[in-house]
Amino acid sequence: MKKTIILTGATGYIGSHTWCALLEAGYDVIGLDNFCNSSMEVIGRISAITQSTLNFIEGDVRDASLLDSIFQQHKIDAAIHFAALKAVGESVEKPLTYYDTNLNGLLNLCSVMARHSVKTLVFSSSATVYGDPDSVPIKEDAPLRTTSPYGQTKLMGEQILRDLEHSDRDWKIGYLRYFNPVGAHKSGLIGENPRGVPNNLMPYVAQVAVGKLEKLRIYGGDYPTPDGTGVRDYIHVMDLAEGHVSAVSHLLDDGASGNGSFTVNLGAGHGISVLEVIHAYEKACGRPIPYEIVPRRSGDVAAYYADPSLASEILDWRATRGLDVICSDSWRWQNMNPDGI
Ligand code: NAD
Ligand code: WQD
Repeated sequence: MKKTIILTGATGYIGSHTWCALLEAGYDVIGLDNFCNSSMEVIGRISAITQSTLNFIEGDVRDASLLDSIFQQHKIDAAIHFAALKAVGESVEKPLTYYDTNLNGLLNLCSVMARHSVKTLVFSSSATVYGDPDSVPIKEDAPLRTTSPYGQTKLMGEQILRDLEHSDRDWKIGYLRYFNPVGAHKSGLIGENPRGVPNNLMPYVAQVAVGKLEKLRIYGGDYPTPDGTGVRDYIHVMDLAEGHVSAVSHLLDDGASGNGSFTVNLGAGHGISVLEVIHAYEKACGRPIPYEIVPRRSGDVAAYYADPSLASEILDWRATRGLDVICSDSWRWQNMNPDGI
């Protein structure tokens, strides 16, 4: 019997790629999104990639009656909860908006799930919960601390869910702490689709490559890293999507009573500097990426990358796509959709 998964934030960057991976793995998917940070066009693109008719509902994850009616009409086995606001800087300016969407959305989803006795959930957490780590690579038992309201919503989201599973042992929750998701589907049909000028490195570099932005500003060339620029753990979004398939299938444990909750890092497991990203991107697009080095961005840390061995142990999952694939897939997406979708 096919299992049915509801995805909140289904047309967003990670949600859209996970939707493709779930269909490919044989799951039925119900997508929910209010398009506050994505485009309706994504639906047609996923449909083209997967050659499927999609089951999509436009709406807000904070809308209890809408969620109730979805859970009433469909036999849902599990939820993957992507829907959230994610811009760190904006969260400092609009904390209430972030706490409302990210926490009320989670509370509402869990309440409706409990009412319908659906107690299997995968939660989008973030490496931001480790703040400025004491050491790298980062393991899941590293101290948790975070500075932005966005980071707080992820930390509080985890805490709410841990309290929930202590109150009712039927809950099975996968806490996935993503490092830096980048790249795009190999078809070039879906990818990261930022509104306005990107805050993050990879979409910024992509827009410089395609000629929409003049040059990259590298935030800091004097970090204690091999080339002085910031080091991060970039993970291909399809590797991340496949991590969700492994997570949900582990929790549902096809057939048996299912496995218990777990918390894992989803990262590639090695650090890459800003200059390394630029050079790999230049190779992928065949053009120079102009840049200048400017002062550090406030709040940035020098280096962080995951120890992803627990995910490999529990989920039998590891990232397989390297920086060259990341850059060539990102470039294909950017070049085919210079103004996004
Ligand atoms: P995204 O903005 O591309 O996708 C989120 C989707 O949720 C969007 O399509 C948006 O329209 C939708 N959404 C937001 N609020 C909603 C609401 N109230 N009701 C219904 N839909 C709503 O972001 P993403 O990069 O795909 O991130 C997905 C999840 O992963 C988020 O929870 C994010 O915090 C987390 N995460 C992202 C990153 C990253 O760097 N991209 C890193 C770590 C964790
Ligand atoms: C990467 C590197 C920058 C832009 C953020 C969030 C984090 C998580 C993922 C959700 C750093 C440098 C960047 C630019 C640059 N999101 N850079 N010029 O800051 O590691 O993580 O996204 O949970 O919470 O904080 O990602 O892509 O912004 O930066 O030099 O124009 O690129 O300094 O070293 P970050 P990023």
